[in-house]
Amino acid sequence: MCGIVGYVGARNCADVLVSALSKLEYRGYDSAGIAVFADGEIQIAKSKGRLADLSAKMEKEGKPEGHVGIGHTRWATHGEPTDVNSHPHRGGAYVTLVHNGIIENYKRLKEFLISEGRTFVSDTDTEVVAQLVDYHYHGDPLAAIADTMREVTGSFALGILFADFPNKIFAVRRGSPLIVGKGENESFIASDVPAILKYTKQYYLLEHDEIAVLTDKGTEFYDTRFVPIQKELLTADWDMDAAEKQGYEHFMLKEIHEQPESILRTVTPRIEDGLPSLAECGITPEKIKEFRNIYIVACGTAMHAGMVGKYVIEKLARVPVIVDIASEFRYREPLIGEGDLIIIISQSGETADSLEAMRLAKKLGAKTLAIVNAKGSSIAREADMLIYTHAGPEIAVASTKAYMVQIAVMYLFGFELALAKGKITEEECRRLTALLLETPGYIEKILARKDELHTIAESLVKAESLLYIGRGLDYALSMEGSLKLKEISYIHSEAYAAGELKHGTISLIYDGMPVIAVDTQKALHEKTVSNIKEVKARGAMTILVCGDSYAPEKDIADYCFRLPEIDDLLMPMMGVVPLQLIAYYASVMRGNDVDKPRNLAKSVTVE
Ligand code: G6P
Repeated sequence: MCGIVGYVGARNCADVLVSALSKLEYRGYDSAGIAVFADGEIQIAKSKGRLADLSAKMEKEGKPEGHVGIGHTRWATHGEPTDVNSHPHRGGAYVTLVHNGIIENYKRLKEFLISEGRTFVSDTDTEVVAQLVDYHYHGDPLAAIADTMREVTGSFALGILFADFPNKIFAVRRGSPLIVGKGENESFIASDVPAILKYTKQYYLLEHDEIAVLTDKGTEFYDTRFVPIQKELLTADWDMDAAEKQGYEHFMLKEIHEQPESILRTVTPRIEDGLPSLAECGITPEKIKEFRNIYIVACGTAMHAGMVGKYVIEKLARVPVIVDIASEFRYREPLIGEGDLIIIISQSGETADSLEAMRLAKKLGAKTLAIVNAKGSSIAREADMLIYTHAGPEIAVASTKAYMVQIAVMYLFGFELALAKGKITEEECRRLTALLLETPGYIEKILARKDELHTIAESLVKAESLLYIGRGLDYALSMEGSLKLKEISYIHSEAYAAGELKHGTISLIYDGMPVIAVDTQKALHEKTVSNIKEVKARGAMTILVCGDSYAPEKDIADYCFRLPEIDDLLMPMMGVVPLQLIAYYASVMRGNDVDKPRNLAKSVTVE
């Protein structure tokens, strides 16, 4: 999704903007641009493609030299990724701005502005808001912004320059995230904290409908009635190192390796006397045991973490759990209300579909629990209860360590709920909790066997399509394995419940088609083996991911990756690692941009 940055201070503004934007590349984008006060005017440089294309263009055509400016990486929504549609956009003689999010009523506003004699050069909703601010501008930027905010609908953040105010940046948000950085005699805006970490760790979180006015001396905040607001200055607890690659070829590989540490950071503080304790997150046994139904609502990888959560909670606590895709949940009049719990899982905490689903559930009277990685994000702030996952910054678009800690939290929650409901004994709860703490050590061992997974990836990298199959928790895992492969290798794949294959999908099997069979659940092993035999008999090339005590008959697996065995329930934490690495190596072998796969965005702030 689009990224916004802005800088006012003594440094070369264009350099700061490009450097800050490079830290937002993980969000996904297809064009980039900056606008800087230079030689007494606002000069714009923008280009479709990567930041490198923008830098090359500026090298050739000249870089705007100045100390105040805004920058943007665009993930196309309204209009193709072209130079013209790239941000920043001019709104007339006075206003130049960058925008993240969607202006929902832009068509109507555009018609109005055209009727007022204005003309447009791009297809974007951004140019409409730029023109609208300019239309309302009569010498007072705050009034122009406030008037615009009254007329636009949607979820967005804006960074704005006014030609009459060459020492200031203006910013406002509704929905989409925006932070304001505070340095020594310099100020910043950014869509996310990593953009400013090189310069400062101190920042403010801009809230809904707040306007920020930045100068090199600091920032003033106002509401849309121009009442000044005092804001709390926050300090980021990440350092630059955490947001850099640290010698790994890709962020994704680094993040896969950070999983053991992420689990420990997330789980250890939530264990007291050998038992899970989520009290600091607002979750007490008395509170959670009363819920009638549980809904887990999320998107993408986070939804797959929810699938694991469903198995764990239903098996241990015997509470019905419905897992829903957030974009579906909202529009099917969900049967949710008082007495229900809705768990929203999100790495970014800004995913529009998940956020809106949570708001709807709240409106319907359900209690909301957010499991979120990004501190201070919208979902984190609006939920009734909150469990932060401590994965640290996840930069690669394909989620790995965030998924791992999401499922770790699902276990903690499931254990605590089961104990609260008297469905497991304290002794069993202690046993499971202790095992959860052992997972990082086992994962280290899997990571040490990366070469085996490289070989497996080689075996499937030329395939046009493949299947992932599994039963129970292994099916939930297969979904995540398949999504990972699709996202970054661009090889088509599908995850299927192993027992369901024979009802249609098995007709897809052709000679040599790779099938990854996940078989970690002892109770389901025999059934899964039968399904593997079915695909093998039809010519599939099978890759088996199983527990290390299995001695599969030789003829069912062309490749076999054995996992350290822990309790069946916790096997997804082992099993996901080889699936992540197979996808990773397949992507590398195909020469893809592993960390920034085509068409995808890390933080999807549009519906
Ligand atoms: C995007 C990303 C996925 C992610 C999903 C949900 O589609 O590309 O990797 O799983 O959003 O994101 P969230 O931040 O809510 O976990």
